[in-house]
Amino acid sequence: MCGIVGYTGSRQAYPVILKGLKRLEYRGYDSSGVALLKDGELNVYKKKGKVAELEESMIGNNIDAQIGIGHTRWATHGEPSDRNAHPHSSASGKLAMIHNGIIENYALIKQDLINKGYEFKSDTDTEVLLNFIEDIQQNNNSTLEEAVRIALKRVTGAYCILLIEQDNPDTIIAARKGSPLVIGIGKGEHFLASDASPIIEYTKEVVYVNDYELAIVKPDELILKNLGNEKITPYITKLDMELAAIEKGGYDHFMIKEIFEQPSTIFDCLRGRLDAKEGVIRMSGVDKHIDQLINANRIMILACGTSWHAGLIAEYIIEELCRIPVEVEYASEFRYRNPIVNKGDVIIAISQSGETADTLVALEKAKENGAFIFGVVNAVGSSIARISNAGAYTHAGPEIGVASTKAFTGQLAVLMMVALDIAKHKGTISDERYKSLLLELEEVPEKVNAILKNAEDIKKIAEKYKDASDFLFLGRGYNFPVALEGALKLKEISYIHAEGYPAAEMKHGPIALVDENLPVVFIATKDMYHEKIVSNMQEIKARKGKIISIVTEGDTVSPGLSNDFFAIPPADELIAPILTVIPLQLLSYYVGTAKGIDVDKPRNLAKSVTVE
Ligand code: M6R
Repeated sequence: MCGIVGYTGSRQAYPVILKGLKRLEYRGYDSSGVALLKDGELNVYKKKGKVAELEESMIGNNIDAQIGIGHTRWATHGEPSDRNAHPHSSASGKLAMIHNGIIENYALIKQDLINKGYEFKSDTDTEVLLNFIEDIQQNNNSTLEEAVRIALKRVTGAYCILLIEQDNPDTIIAARKGSPLVIGIGKGEHFLASDASPIIEYTKEVVYVNDYELAIVKPDELILKNLGNEKITPYITKLDMELAAIEKGGYDHFMIKEIFEQPSTIFDCLRGRLDAKEGVIRMSGVDKHIDQLINANRIMILACGTSWHAGLIAEYIIEELCRIPVEVEYASEFRYRNPIVNKGDVIIAISQSGETADTLVALEKAKENGAFIFGVVNAVGSSIARISNAGAYTHAGPEIGVASTKAFTGQLAVLMMVALDIAKHKGTISDERYKSLLLELEEVPEKVNAILKNAEDIKKIAEKYKDASDFLFLGRGYNFPVALEGALKLKEISYIHAEGYPAAEMKHGPIALVDENLPVVFIATKDMYHEKIVSNMQEIKARKGKIISIVTEGDTVSPGLSNDFFAIPPADELIAPILTVIPLQLLSYYVGTAKGIDVDKPRNLAKSVTVE
């Protein structure tokens, strides 16, 4: 987590950094700060709270500088406060540094430094690393670059760091391991950031820095080296992203913009891959590795949060269509246990950001054991995309709201196509079923559009139930993970306690919670479980629970049992989750905003979870 920005060139650095921090605020917003360097004067300004608070506190400060670094923080070591905010200054005041990640062996290093007489102004691991670098620099009489290299060889953990030095008027030293870093290449200027969003309006030429690489960045020069001090030729990539994609475009929040973008993001995801008329799916990531995929003994899906929910739906779909056993595991659990991974296993990694630390490390572990990694990733060029042996992008465009919405439906669309493609090659699906699912999939953008046209109906439901203290979400089969997702969304952005359950499991415990105050959201679309879920609705109704149901248009039974309902267009049960999740996204958005919550930046969360 945390967002970092750096600039060196001929423009005023502060406006570039400030704008960049606002774009990166989704990565953390506990505090923010900037360090600006001009004529040997290194000024550090920082403030607890969101970037807007920093901006206000900067009025009247000297901001004239052509080089600087800035940071927006998601707190790990040390509470959110002014003194724990980045940038940190070294003991001598000559260096300033920002950091995204965690230095795991900071305690040992700190003790050594304390023994040498160092005093610390913050509780952060970052200040420890910074003083460690300065200590090496002073003891070895070395350059900052050398000191950084020596220090980084001795630390464990994850980092992306940017440093500036009082006596070095135009150079930023940067390095990464486990936390992302992109460098934008301009004419006589360079931009550094955690992702491309702060860079996009200045240049489309970027270099993605890899783990264990160090960059020496001057206005006219970019030198990349490994930690062994060998030069590496920077690989320049062209950004395929437009500025409009990272702006709100007239919406109140990114979250609602992203919910409403779904007809087009799903369309973009299917485009060029799905041809229902011809009856084909073309996915180069699948087709090039088809033998590996159809012969997989087992597929393991690794992901976190919303992406894990997409994985659960994929488990049902892949087992149904491809007849390959699938296991879905939280990446954070997988990485710390001793899992059995064999050569013939295929791992599907699902991630919006492509930078989630738990998923990334789990994949490294699986790869070491010889597994084949197939990445389903949204952020192009991200670490998970790069570590994968093959994959398919979700093409949902930048997702900025902390709550994942369009990335989830993109993941489902990709996973559905992957399953169909494998099943077709493997011969585990009839031609008729294959064609009908292709046609259904093609209709999804239009159906999502139809659902969104009735968003006001969900808003009314949200207003009615916004003061509830708990919610239960229930679904069966393909819609059970959608219940989990509905509960997660509501928790995240409304702070209402919510739980998702398989509807039948409710009678094994959660039913004890049901009374006239508990809203119970049923995902009760017309599918093979419909009669069963109707019975579960009866059970809730008998206990006076308030039923809100997501039903299929034309269904007369479920609405009759519900206090409120929302109808969606009919769809095959394998496809239905892409539709049923939309009203749940809207419900959480409208409840969150009705409660006055900043839904794009809910408390304690960050978009890209790059710490364990
Ligand atoms: O970027 P990823 O998909 O790997 O992120 C995984 C989770 O951190 C993410 O889905 C999180 O649960 C979202 N805030 C959910 O809305």
